[in-house]
Parts: sequence; C-alpha cells; structure tokens
Amino acid sequence: MAGRDNRPYVILNAAMTLDGKIATWKGDSEISSMEDWERVHKLRAWVDGLMIGIGTLLKDNPKLTVKYPRKKPLTKIVVDSLARTPTNAKIFQYKNGSRIVLAVTSKASKKKIKKLQKSGATVIVAGSGRKVNLKQLLQKLWKMGIKILMVEGGGNLNWGMVKAGLVDEVRVAVAPILVGGKNATTLVEGEGYPKIQDGLKLKLAKIETAGENLVLTYKREG
Ligand SMILES: NC(=O)c1ccc[n+]([C@@H]2O[C@H](COP(=O)([O-])OP(=O)(O)OC[C@H]3O[C@@H](n4cnc5c(N)ncnc54)[C@H](OP(=O)(O)O)[C@@H]3O)[C@@H](O)[C@H]2O)c1
Repeated sequence: MAGRDNRPYVILNAAMTLDGKIATWKGDSEISSMEDWERVHKLRAWVDGLMIGIGTLLKDNPKLTVKYPRKKPLTKIVVDSLARTPTNAKIFQYKNGSRIVLAVTSKASKKKIKKLQKSGATVIVAGSGRKVNLKQLLQKLWKMGIKILMVEGGGNLNWGMVKAGLVDEVRVAVAPILVGGKNATTLVEGEGYPKIQDGLKLKLAKIETAGENLVLTYKREG
C-alpha cells in the first residue's frame, strides 16, 4: 500500500459525535465506545506510524499505546513546529520500544530540540515556515520506512493534511450523541474551502458498527 509521490498511504482516523465534533468546547474527547477502542488498537497494531498534532498532545497528553503485538516498533509522530512538546509528556513515559518523532520547522529553538532529543525523541525538520511542511514530512517518513500512516487528529492537523492533498482514506466512528458548541473541535478545522466542489472527494468503502458507533470508511476518489 503506498500513497503518492513517495509518501505513506494516509488513513485519517477519528471518533466524532453525530454533529461532527471530535471534542467538546471544553476539550472532552471521550467519544469512542469500548468496541471502537478495540478497532483503533487493531489499526494501531497494523500501521507503521501514528501521527498527532501538538494541540492534541497538549490537551489530552495521550499515551498512544497499542494493546496488540506488533511485528515492528510503532513510530509515533507529533507535528510540533516550535518544539513545544513537554519532556514529561506521556508518550515518553509509555514509549515501550516505540520510536518517537517530533516534526518541527527550522524556527524551533535549538535548545528545546536538544532537550527533546535527550528525552529520546528523533527530531525531523520539515520546512522553514511557521508550520510544518506536511508534504516534506511525509516524504521523510517514507524514507524512514513508514508506508502506512495513521493520523489521529486533531481538527487542525486534519485540515493541514486535507489541504495538502495528503489524505487517502478516512475512517470515522460516529457516536450517537449530539454535543453542539460553536467552539467545539470538529473533524476538520482550519479555514475550510469556500465551495463544496473544492472539498476532498471521497467514496464510501465500508460500513460497520462498533457497539453503538457507526464506523464509516471512505477512500479518496481517483
Ligand atoms: N475524537 C477524536 O478522535 C480526536 C482525536 C484527536 C484529537 N481530538 C481532539 O482534538 C483537539 C485538538 O485539536 P486541535 O485542532 O486543537 O489540535 P491538533 O490538530 O492536534 O494540532 C494542531 C497544531 O499542529 C501544529 N501544526 C504544525 N504544522 C501544522 C500544519 N501544517 N497543519 C496543521 N497543524 C500543524 C500547529 O501547532 P504549532 O504551530 O505549534 O506547530 C497546530 O496548531 C483536542 O481537544 C483533542 O481531544 C479528538
């Protein structure tokens, strides 16, 4: 399975409410059912890399653990332009043989990078702008042997990936709950497209259930 232009095949995975939120306005993101967590752990056991944004790391401090055995260690990637990842983040404490990659830009402080490298992170510089150049990052990850990459949000990283044309597949677990909130995080944030026609076009590939959640798999058209 390969993406395009020497980059990994990208699966964007999320749990969202029926009204499209991946977290409430207060940052509560406990959306998945137990059955859906099983699905997520199986997917984590299968992919080569698992990527999140620094927003998610700072809000949730996830462990990003995998319940099932893997053939090769998982690479966990944090997209973090300015190297804001704290050295006491849980991903370091729950490393369990995985490789931790922090993707920064050349604007990140050298001092912070050194500290993070001392904590066991591999630092990749992707771009010199204010945000990580995701296309460049994915090409570097491909060279590191990451052929299948799972992206676990949040909403702003999801937008960055969609905008850069880097999403091949979307798997979304829809929970039967409405939470509302104009400041709640939606599946894809950012400035968005002005026209429906401009959006990323997908084809429905699979419909499953995981407990009370409806799990929808979409693949990129063309
Ligand atoms: N339900 C779910 O499945 C699920 C999954 C994940 C997260 N969440 C929720 O989502 C929320 C966090 O979402 P978020 O949107 O605030 O944060 P996010 O998407 O995790 O991280 C966004 C940050 O990534 C960094 N970034 C660097 N380069 C980027 C690029 N090219 N494009 C986009 N982002 C780039 C930026 O920070 P810098 O400029 O500092 O680099 C940006 O602010 C949390 O509440 C979390 O609980 C829910």
